[in-house]
Amino acid sequence: MEQIKSHNLNWDHYAHGYSSDIESQMDDFHRNAWVKLFSEYMDKNLPLDILDVGTGPGFFPMILGEQGHRVTGIDFSASMLREAEKNTKKRAVSCTLLQMDAAQLSFSDASFDFVVCRNMAYSLAEPELAYSEWIRVLRQNGTLLVFDANWFHFLFDTEEKAKIDEFLEDYHAQVGKVHETYEKERELFFDHISIRPLSRVKRPDWDCSFLESLGANVTLDSTVGNRVHTSLEVYTHTPTPLFLIEAIKK
Ligand SMILES: C[S@@+](CC[C@H](N)C(=O)[O-])C[C@H]1O[C@@H](n2cnc3c(N)ncnc32)[C@H](O)[C@@H]1O
Repeated sequence: MEQIKSHNLNWDHYAHGYSSDIESQMDDFHRNAWVKLFSEYMDKNLPLDILDVGTGPGFFPMILGEQGHRVTGIDFSASMLREAEKNTKKRAVSCTLLQMDAAQLSFSDASFDFVVCRNMAYSLAEPELAYSEWIRVLRQNGTLLVFDANWFHFLFDTEEKAKIDEFLEDYHAQVGKVHETYEKERELFFDHISIRPLSRVKRPDWDCSFLESLGANVTLDSTVGNRVHTSLEVYTHTPTPLFLIEAIKK
């Protein structure tokens, strides 16, 4: 499979490194933290039809597949999907993995009980279209769970930038300077991500309003990071905390 061409952010490049992180997360605190969190939203006695959008190396298919749910993971990066296939096979988790653009789903209306998405919505080229598609494929009373953060808004907002600078000062004092090659990599990534529409808006406010305009019942959890992150991660996410948007299709 080839990388779908219409997107200029080359996620293939990050697949291997990202997959190593995900493998570690499956063996440490994160796995149980996410299982526990999902158990509060999903009935364990029913095998649910779940779509994971931007599945990457397959963390959610592993977590949710192990609970007996029927999980479909989609991603437009062929390398990410290869990692997801390797990781799920290693754990004998059965799931469906497909190469697809999040904003152009090939599923029929009302195909899923849940649509889940972690750390991906921020990079959408067409967020309105993607959110509309995710709601479309949900059954009535089905739930969309979006885990994300306002990662790159500081590139456009002086208050957010001040928060990042203040945090970095503290971080450098405590942990030391970030390695130079890592900084260069970040710059490259910023170049790509700064052109994304959701980097320019205040989130999760924008997402909640847009999902409400689609007729969903929306609830926000701004402290979900405290439950699925280690204390070090909670610290490093200080200026951009993880949020969870729950949108139920009416
Ligand atoms: C930061 S990774 C997150 C992976 C996974 N959700 C997780 O939390 O471990 C973002 C993933 O979204 C995928 N992605 C980004 N935009 C996409 C799109 N429009 N359609 C499909 N996949 C997309 C990327 O290829 C990448 O695998």
